[in-house]
Amino acid sequence: MSLPLPPVLVVDDEKNMRLSLKTVLTAERYAVKAVESAEEAMLLLGQEDFFMVITDARLGGMSGYEFLAKARAQWPELQVLMITAYATPKLAVEAIQAGAVDYLPKPFAPEELLHAVARCAERYRLLQENARLRARSDETYRLDQIIGECPKMRELRQLIQTVAPTDARVLVLGESGTGKELVAGALHSLSQRAEASYVRINCAAIPETLLESELFGHEKGAFTGALRQKPGRVEEADGGTIFLDEIADMSRPLQAKLLRFLEDGTFTRVGGTQELRVNVRLIAATNRDIVKAIQEDQFREDLFHRLNVVQFRLPPLRERGDDVLLLADHFLRLFGASMHKSLRGISRVARQKLQSHRWPGNVRELRNVIERALILETSPEIQASSLPDFQLEARLQKPGAPAAPAGESLDEIMAQYERDLITGLLEQHHYSLSKTAEHLKISRHALRYRMQRLNIQPGPETEEEPSAPAARDR
Ligand SMILES: Nc1ncnc2c1ncn2[C@@H]1O[C@H](COP(=O)(O)OP(=O)(O)OP(=O)(O)O)[C@@H](O)[C@H]1O
Ligand SMILES: [Mg+2]
Repeated sequence: MSLPLPPVLVVDDEKNMRLSLKTVLTAERYAVKAVESAEEAMLLLGQEDFFMVITDARLGGMSGYEFLAKARAQWPELQVLMITAYATPKLAVEAIQAGAVDYLPKPFAPEELLHAVARCAERYRLLQENARLRARSDETYRLDQIIGECPKMRELRQLIQTVAPTDARVLVLGESGTGKELVAGALHSLSQRAEASYVRINCAAIPETLLESELFGHEKGAFTGALRQKPGRVEEADGGTIFLDEIADMSRPLQAKLLRFLEDGTFTRVGGTQELRVNVRLIAATNRDIVKAIQEDQFREDLFHRLNVVQFRLPPLRERGDDVLLLADHFLRLFGASMHKSLRGISRVARQKLQSHRWPGNVRELRNVIERALILETSPEIQASSLPDFQLEARLQKPGAPAAPAGESLDEIMAQYERDLITGLLEQHHYSLSKTAEHLKISRHALRYRMQRLNIQPGPETEEEPSAPAARDR
């Protein structure tokens, strides 16, 4: 799919020259705009796209050379063809040094001009194509990048494989940091649209007033600051996939427009009247409780049903069992490679500490924790001391009443609290059962019993009590 070529901008103070350039170029089906001064050209360049500029070296007002330098400083990729009066090597060198892609000495044959313009058109297309490919290669997601062997994650990968090749709309739900973007990317990469664009929009990151024009584009002058016409991202996504992240943050009026778009693929640009149509697949995600948003009248129920053709629910990390360790090892390898620091692994005690944390920030939090640990670690393995003090952090984050996680019984919440408390104290006392028991004013026997019940593994040093070695775990 090659995009149409924007026009050529011709800058010349001689009317006849402008006319004859225009004639030659339009005959070859190039779109042309012509102005008589560099000042006008600078203005126009700020408002519209051109694939190249043809300018005379001598202009009234700002000279062709000055113009060339100014324009290239502002738009470094802009291609400028300079027309010079005399074919002296010195002038040619000057033009090229100033950043012109080419120069033509007067007088020139139309073929020479067309030849130079064709080269610029070709180069422009390559640059565009490269930019597209670059954007795409950043965004290739593979199924095996989604780490996790717990039943829910296995099911999830299976479902991605089943749903990806269809055009079904997908709604991805899950707490922050659970991997919703990863899933959306994989759905696109495994679809028949993989070769076309994958456009991502974060509805929460763009001010409400600008989101509509970002999505559907605007006409020139549609609002203050709309200096030029701008196609919408949905047009960019034509033939491909659009991923609307944080969809629950979209305003009600825009939800209505999105609904219409989802009904028949049509939309109008802001300030426009023409009805446009594209073929895009939509994937949406949110970390908010969408049902609650509907109940509170913040999200349209009809839109929800339109989006919710297939629903993915990503489990929080704390419900993924040993996946915590799998992911930790994965991030250790990943960051280890980029930091050129290869560690043997994660110590037993550190693993326990990872397993007993509740991970409110989910996989993103784990990723950050491992990255930090890798930076701090000086021994061949990640030690518990290189991990954050999760307890302290939890206390800092939750002054006042403790937050009760939704969907868990009081017993579960209390068990988790007890687990965190005991693990934290064990660490503080270098895994001495006696000291920990003393701290909690219970017997060693009672502590052991609770640890068993809460599935807390005793540290490696606890056996050698009472003379427990200090600091480092192994
Ligand atoms: N199963 C997984 N395997 C490997 N990496 C993962 C996994 N899940 C998430 N990640 C990584 O964790 C980080 C957070 O994931 P992502 O950005 O997809 O979260 P999210 O659900 O979109 O969060 P938010 O709601 O805050 O936008 C990313 O760096 C992602 O690559
Ligand atoms: Mg996200």
